[in-house]
Amino acid sequence: MNRRFLFVLGSARQDGNTELLAREAAAQLPTGVEQRWIRLAEHPLPDFVDLRHDEDHVRPSADTPAGLLLDATLAATDIVIASPLYWYSVSSLTKRYLDYWSAWLRTPGVDFKATMAGRTLWGVAALAADEPSVAAPYVGTLNNSAAYLGMRFGGVLLGNGSAPGDVRKDTEALARAKTFFAQDAPLARYPHETDGIRAGAGVQG
Ligand SMILES: Cc1cc2nc3c(=O)[nH]c(=O)nc-3n(C[C@H](O)[C@H](O)[C@H](O)COP(=O)(O)O)c2cc1C
Repeated sequence: MNRRFLFVLGSARQDGNTELLAREAAAQLPTGVEQRWIRLAEHPLPDFVDLRHDEDHVRPSADTPAGLLLDATLAATDIVIASPLYWYSVSSLTKRYLDYWSAWLRTPGVDFKATMAGRTLWGVAALAADEPSVAAPYVGTLNNSAAYLGMRFGGVLLGNGSAPGDVRKDTEALARAKTFFAQDAPLARYPHETDGIRAGAGVQG
């Protein structure tokens, strides 16, 4: 199957470090690999409402943010969460997108879990802190979400920066970006399923 990468941009500002780092990594993808970039701030999802245990589940229409994001997610073989580190985890825009996955698990005609199984989740994050291990909650969120859906997990590419453009000075991160998507992405496992897995495993800091 041809790879199709969906980059889900979760920063609350434009032209930030996370997108810059994600674009560095994406530049290394072979030309035959499709890339789609979606800025969550440009497709504002309404507050998530938990209707999982109500009777009516309808597929959102394609002309709504939820429908657009659902269709883009289903079409992707690889989903790249490109969210800055906000309070040690993903941004609220990104978290809301992930909350919608819970709704899509019950959306008729979608079979979200079976569709996502075997696909690959990746993370790219800029953070102001110098110590990459502080991003462990972010990595855990993505790793465990991938494990829940039977997805592969390629880890999180971290880059340091505070003001926009700062990440250009993190030459180690830019070097890691060159090979990030070429690495193996094993099936995700919860930490309790894997002996010796550390809370920070998967961090590329
Ligand atoms: C709401 C908010 C929360 C943040 N929380 C953290 C944090 O927990 N740890 C950290 O190192 N940096 C934190 N930062 C700094 C950003 O991660 C940093 O500025 C990053 O470069 C922003 O990425 P962007 O340029 O892609 O938007 C936070 C920034 C904001 C706006």
